[in-house]
Amino acid sequence: MYTSVMKIDSGSPTTIAQALSWCSQRLESSAVYFGHGTDNAWDEAVQMVLSVAQLPADAGDGVLPQVFSPQMMDRLEALLQQRIAERVPLPYLLGRAWFAGLEFRCDERAIIPRSPMAELIEQGFQPWYAGPAPERVLDLCCGGGCIGLATAYHQAQSHVDLLDIDVDALALARENAAALGLAERCRVLQSDLFEAVEGERYDLILCNPPYVDAQDLAAMPAEYHAEPALALGSGADGLHLTRQILARAGQYLRPHGLLIMEVGYTWPTLERAYPNVPFTWIEFARGGDGVFAMTRQEWQDYSESWR
Ligand SMILES: C[S@@+](CC[C@H](N)C(=O)[O-])C[C@H]1O[C@@H](n2cnc3c(N)ncnc32)[C@H](O)[C@@H]1O
Repeated sequence: MYTSVMKIDSGSPTTIAQALSWCSQRLESSAVYFGHGTDNAWDEAVQMVLSVAQLPADAGDGVLPQVFSPQMMDRLEALLQQRIAERVPLPYLLGRAWFAGLEFRCDERAIIPRSPMAELIEQGFQPWYAGPAPERVLDLCCGGGCIGLATAYHQAQSHVDLLDIDVDALALARENAAALGLAERCRVLQSDLFEAVEGERYDLILCNPPYVDAQDLAAMPAEYHAEPALALGSGADGLHLTRQILARAGQYLRPHGLLIMEVGYTWPTLERAYPNVPFTWIEFARGGDGVFAMTRQEWQDYSESWR
């Protein structure tokens, strides 16, 4: 979409096309970091301009000649000011983010949805999950609920438990569950890891825990500091929570159950920490890495490693 970039030489934009080109150049020439749902200036410009013009995110090329009014320009300037000067990530400015084909409310109460797991959810966790249609799913460390709620949406027979330790994130997850019409099949519970679901068994456990190590946490681009610190940092080597989750996850899986867990860039650290475990790393067509799949049986087979 919007592949033909129209350049403007001077003056304020007067059409959507000119606003897009101008906005993208402003972002390009700034120090902003792209990593919260978009990875380039053009895609952010598209989202900003369409939002300001109150057009749908999937509006086609047909809107390019439409008028971009002076009032819209003022609003765009204000957004750019917050994005460039204050380094606020775009989804927080727009109040929404897209994940697995769904729109989620998004604000500073929870991390911005961006897990590559979206692709797995859309593909029904194939070819990794071999059990019957998942009835019970756990989203551990759910934040604003994107992983668990998207799974509930795409697996209409499922009941999903969403757990997080952070009450603010849980409030956002509840709002998202209601907005998506999924509240009846989703329980949103405060829990320190598995605490609130002792004795429960799941077909699928999906988990995107915090995994940034202490050194990297301090050095991250300004945009990441707008997100809850609790959602990012996980001890000196980034594996503090991952170790605890691995030690217990199998106890909460049905015999045919599957754990899918994201550890992002800490995957080599994880492999060094568990040299006897042959982790199965998932490849993504749309990009991203550091997500592994582990069956209940595999977890059992390597139980010595989790001690
Ligand atoms: C990386 S975010 C993931 C959020 C969401 N699943 C997503 O993919 O966008 C990690 C989440 O783990 C939560 N968390 C941190 N420590 C936790 C703990 N001990 N028990 C449960 N949740 C925890 C944080 O509050 C945060 O919402």
